[in-house]
Amino acid sequence: MGEHRKILLANIDKEDQHTLSGYESRGGYKSIRKALGMDPLAVVDEVKKSGLRGRGGAGFPTGTKWSFVPRNGAKPVYIVNNADESEPGTFKDRLLMERDPHQCIEGMLICAWAVQSNWSCIYIRGEYGYPYDRLNQAIKECYAKGYLGDNIFGSGFKHDIVVHRGAGAYICGEETALLESLEGAKGQPRLKPPFYPAAIGLYDCPTVVNNVETLAACVWIMEHGGEAYAAIGTPKSTGTKLISASGHINKPGVYEVEMGYPVLRFIEEECGGIWKGRKLKAIMPGGSSFPVLRADELEGVTIDYDSLSKAGSHVGSGGFMVMDDSTDMVQAACNVAHFYAHESCGQCTPCREGGHWIEKIFNRVSKGEGLPGDVELVESVCNQIAGHTICAFGEALAWPAQSFIRKFPEEFKERIKASVKGSPLRVLPMNFEYQGAH
Ligand SMILES: Cc1cc2nc3c(=O)[nH]c(=O)nc-3n(C[C@H](O)[C@H](O)[C@H](O)COP(=O)(O)O)c2cc1C
Ligand code: SF4
Repeated sequence: MGEHRKILLANIDKEDQHTLSGYESRGGYKSIRKALGMDPLAVVDEVKKSGLRGRGGAGFPTGTKWSFVPRNGAKPVYIVNNADESEPGTFKDRLLMERDPHQCIEGMLICAWAVQSNWSCIYIRGEYGYPYDRLNQAIKECYAKGYLGDNIFGSGFKHDIVVHRGAGAYICGEETALLESLEGAKGQPRLKPPFYPAAIGLYDCPTVVNNVETLAACVWIMEHGGEAYAAIGTPKSTGTKLISASGHINKPGVYEVEMGYPVLRFIEEECGGIWKGRKLKAIMPGGSSFPVLRADELEGVTIDYDSLSKAGSHVGSGGFMVMDDSTDMVQAACNVAHFYAHESCGQCTPCREGGHWIEKIFNRVSKGEGLPGDVELVESVCNQIAGHTICAFGEALAWPAQSFIRKFPEEFKERIKASVKGSPLRVLPMNFEYQGAH
């Protein structure tokens, strides 16, 4: 087993870590006390110095986001802890909320002081019943002890937290769809610009939206300092990352690794290697929204923003899905396409229609009914989706689909060849090119 510095998961196995007394017995709520003694802008600077980047998927620098929040007092400032965690293969926020809810709350309080917010919300995936209960219990304990409410830690600073359950739409993890949903509207993304939440967010007020893991990491950063955090990992990918490892491995689970850790070593040592004595075929390292990588592309690749981007994928949410050499990549592509076709919010035509087209084409190829030109057709549809939609769901739909056909073309082409051979009466497709507006 590789040796890793534990920051977020340091106390995750302690039986009573979810209770206030258990959390405090291990130094909990020291960081917020320290932050409350500092100037709020100094707290923002500390987080900037840490180099922490958002762990929800996009990897935006956290301190920079906090610095965008206006401080003129014209409107209230809100914080939303994004606990929607709907990305396929991702289950690390769940572990934090279930086992260490006070770490999540303390991270939110640090952010609250830094941006001078008196109200925040945890927007939690509707299916997460147990983490929801654990968070509510922890919040209740905090109110009882004066750690939340009108005068937190006797500082004169007021902060309230509510927990709001989502209703099961993947798109509500996208920050502006989430805000729409919180306001009671349909969970559909807003146009950006102008609706960057730090400027125009919940009820048109400045709003910081951060992922659960991002905010929890601020507890360690406040205790040990931004520079100490920046010393971990690589220069552009600092700190540690929680990885939800699943698929064809011997030991699926949530692992905390220092950024810059080799992918192949992670699979061998942390994940216990590929199951059933089989070989590695491919991984999706950042959830299903980012491209698949073949085993032969992983030599020298490390878990960090630069290395995974250079390899053609992304750290994303850390939803690390492993496929062994028995995996049917056409079927895998069908599964991913089905998810995105189903979850489109429907606002943009390329996404709403294109998702179903891709799913339909992959399905017919998988059923042995593929047509010559289907691979090129998928490529063309994907090109008309990515970059032509309101939100990044368009890319999340197009990039993985493209990556499957580009990385495993022979599997698609062989399946199509076989189906054409077995069916002499097949109708060949028109030379299709989508002519939508650009
Ligand atoms: C389709 C889609 C789904 C998303 N789902 C989530 C999610 O479940 N959890 C999350 O934290 N961020 C999700 N995001 C990213 C958020 O929009 C946002 O960038 C993030 O919450 C910001 O927090 P961070 O900077 O701490 O990562 C999603 C983005 C898109 C485009
Ligand atoms: S890209 Fe898809 S999910 Fe995003 S706003 Fe458009 S239709 Fe909705």
